[in-house]
Amino acid sequence: MPFGAGWGAFVMGRFGVGGARRENGCVDPSERATIPPTFRVPEPGRRRDVVILGSTGSIGTQAVDVVKANPDRFRVTALAAGGGRVDLLAEQALELGVKAVAVAKAGAAEDLQLAFYAEAKRRGFERGEFAIPAISAGPDAVAQLAGTTDLPCDVVLNGITGSLGLASTIAALSAGHLLALANKESLIVGGPLVKRLAAPGQIVPVDSEHSALAQCLAAGDRTEVRRLVVTASGGPFRGRSRAELAGVTPEQALNHPTWDMGPVITINSATLVNKGLEVIEAHLLFDVPFDDIEVVVHPQSMIHSMVEFVDGTTFAHAGPPNMRLPIAYALGHPKRVPEAAPPVDWTKAQSWTFEPLDHEVFPAVRLAAEAGRRGRTVPAVYNAANEECVQAFLEHRLPFTGIVDTVARVVSEHETGEGPLTLDDVLRAETWARERARELTSAETAGVRGASG
Ligand SMILES: NC(=O)c1ccc[n+]([C@@H]2O[C@H](COP(=O)([O-])OP(=O)(O)OC[C@H]3O[C@@H](n4cnc5c(N)ncnc54)[C@H](OP(=O)(O)O)[C@@H]3O)[C@@H](O)[C@H]2O)c1
Repeated sequence: MPFGAGWGAFVMGRFGVGGARRENGCVDPSERATIPPTFRVPEPGRRRDVVILGSTGSIGTQAVDVVKANPDRFRVTALAAGGGRVDLLAEQALELGVKAVAVAKAGAAEDLQLAFYAEAKRRGFERGEFAIPAISAGPDAVAQLAGTTDLPCDVVLNGITGSLGLASTIAALSAGHLLALANKESLIVGGPLVKRLAAPGQIVPVDSEHSALAQCLAAGDRTEVRRLVVTASGGPFRGRSRAELAGVTPEQALNHPTWDMGPVITINSATLVNKGLEVIEAHLLFDVPFDDIEVVVHPQSMIHSMVEFVDGTTFAHAGPPNMRLPIAYALGHPKRVPEAAPPVDWTKAQSWTFEPLDHEVFPAVRLAAEAGRRGRTVPAVYNAANEECVQAFLEHRLPFTGIVDTVARVVSEHETGEGPLTLDDVLRAETWARERARELTSAETAGVRGASG
């Protein structure tokens, strides 16, 4: 393990198998029999079998690139996606020669089958020269693949977008696979449930900030850490006033200055909700109190995060913004993958700047920390309300500033209850938050229409 005692486990907890499977594909960790962990770090030096979830997205396609560039280190055995881009999925699957493919959309199975034949024809394959992978489709298909023990699998990369990645995170952990976790939402909404399932070292973060923090934390032990400093690019609207944010369009918000990502995380970066989620993620991964996690704006995105130690030393992780680096690090963990991404070019003059976050204009980070402190179902409510509001904004039904305002209102109205958190609590809270956010955003839409009509 490269991380010092106490930090080696990104997520501490117990791990078991069995338990009740729900209709939504999740196994409830609170109903799980407690048995000793079965997770083992895959042997270093042996080629790893990888299952990529969300393979057609921004993280997924970059993970495919990492695997293709390192055939001696990695082999993809299965792919999964939503089912929206079957042509790309078929292309990836035939190129990588995977054994199985899963899509969440039940109706996409036939389209995927046709896409396989079209792709095989495009590649000039004759009948009998190629094998179509096993196809599964439906709401539980992706999580079932994440938890597969029928296929060779050392690492599951969860690159699904949104909290619907929770079932797959739970399934991968339950099956004892190393989990390269890009889908931060599943950790945030699952919170203690996900932590309970994870054996020490079983979750390796893919988020560049948390990958950086984990590597910086290896420089000392827990008692020596004063605080975590999470960097933020500030998004496309850094430096604007709240009034200037009111009229921004989805097109402007989708234009991130330093990172090329999927639409939800790009909007979340513009509102700083993503940074709020990352603060909760850092708290959950590294067990650092919210008061000791700070966000600093660093527009060049060259420093991916920092750890300040008690003696006044600060360790920073640097590199040009490129998700292939943390993806490769997570897939190969604990070994580094040579040439995963270009390093900083020190022959060129450059300036890296840092500034405090304007919490008045971007209240999402404080709101997230508050949600994290309240704990239980509140982070799930923060995330679910935000997912609804982002959709409303992208569909021009909600102004940009309405996203965080609505999330704040939903969070403030939420009564979280007491007692040990169960999966049912989380799912009920999410459903409530989505419905409440939809009510509030449709009232806002009606108001906007009324005012303009
Ligand atoms: N992009 C980044 O640079 C970045 C950086 C750090 C963290 N992350 C995190 O990584 C995750 C993925 O982000 P992204 O930017 O890659 O998103 P994205 O580009 O929107 O891709 C999302 C992927 O999830 C798939 N998907 C959608 N619904 C699904 C379902 N029900 N079951 C299985 N797969 C489903 C999509 O498939 P279809 O193509 O079929 O819709 C697509 O492959 C998010 O949690 C994000 O916060 C991303």
